[in-house]
Amino acid sequence: MSVFRKPSQLFEFLPWDSELFRLRVAIIPKNIRLTAERLPDLKRSLRAHEIDLLYYFRDTNSPQEVTSFAAFGFRFIDTRIILGRTLQRVKVPQEVPMFELRRQNELTIHLKPLFAMSKDLAKTSRFWSDPLVQRSHIIRMYRSWVEKSLSFERSDHFFWVGSAADPLAFASFTKTKPHEATLSLIATRRDARRKGYGSALLKQSLYMLHKRGIRSVHLDMQLSNARALAFYQALGFRIRGSQYIFHWHR
Ligand SMILES: CC(C)(COP(=O)(O)OP(=O)(O)OC[C@H]1O[C@@H](n2cnc3c(N)ncnc32)[C@H](O)[C@@H]1OP(=O)(O)O)[C@@H](O)C(=O)NCCC(=O)NCCS
Repeated sequence: MSVFRKPSQLFEFLPWDSELFRLRVAIIPKNIRLTAERLPDLKRSLRAHEIDLLYYFRDTNSPQEVTSFAAFGFRFIDTRIILGRTLQRVKVPQEVPMFELRRQNELTIHLKPLFAMSKDLAKTSRFWSDPLVQRSHIIRMYRSWVEKSLSFERSDHFFWVGSAADPLAFASFTKTKPHEATLSLIATRRDARRKGYGSALLKQSLYMLHKRGIRSVHLDMQLSNARALAFYQALGFRIRGSQYIFHWHR
């Protein structure tokens, strides 16, 4: 039996993305399977709600429908891969100092290097592969994401290596279920890469999360980011799924 949905339920409005991109942005929720029959409804609804930009993530195991999406105006942006690992066997390296930001911390971290890293993250994002999204808006989005991670509005755990005056790498995690977390952001400062800081940070973060009861960590990333994929795989993450990323612009 097919489930009837009102056209307006085919997508969800995204206030944060809308504010940062200065557009009306929406996403097709995970539980909605977009079929060719639903496209006319979608078109009407996008027009009625004056949506400018719509995201759609489609499992790569249904590639046969890609053509009808392209005809509708969805542009293929990149392939997203979902990685995961369980946390039973985390070994802790001791060679670099690692810090955790706590809600009650008074410690002030030097923001400039964090913002420089947020710019690098912006460039690895799916938005950077979309020529219709303004670059300055993407940079602003990732800067805001780092700010909101520091204030725990968009993260539950924030770790970094180096000192507060000189952070070399940072990572933020969001709790998704009682025993699961998502790695939201991770970056090493450009001049400190390939020196083991990223892996020391991630291993120690996973160790700390394990101590707090987290038993598995997931993340998603763009397949085109080969460097990061090598990094995660070296740290025991395995591919759990993949999706085609589509963006539709008004
Ligand atoms: C991905 C990133 C965090 C790795 O940080 P790092 O501190 O350089 O990582 P490490 O030095 O600990 O590297 C650990 C291992 O990862 C792999 N790796 C890291 N960078 C790599 C690269 N450029 N090419 C191939 N493998 C790489 C290697 O196996 C490496 O071990 P090795 O140096 O002994 O060969 C860093 O490159 C970065 O900040 N990239 C930009 C932001 C980004 O892409 N974040 C992830 C978004 S999903």
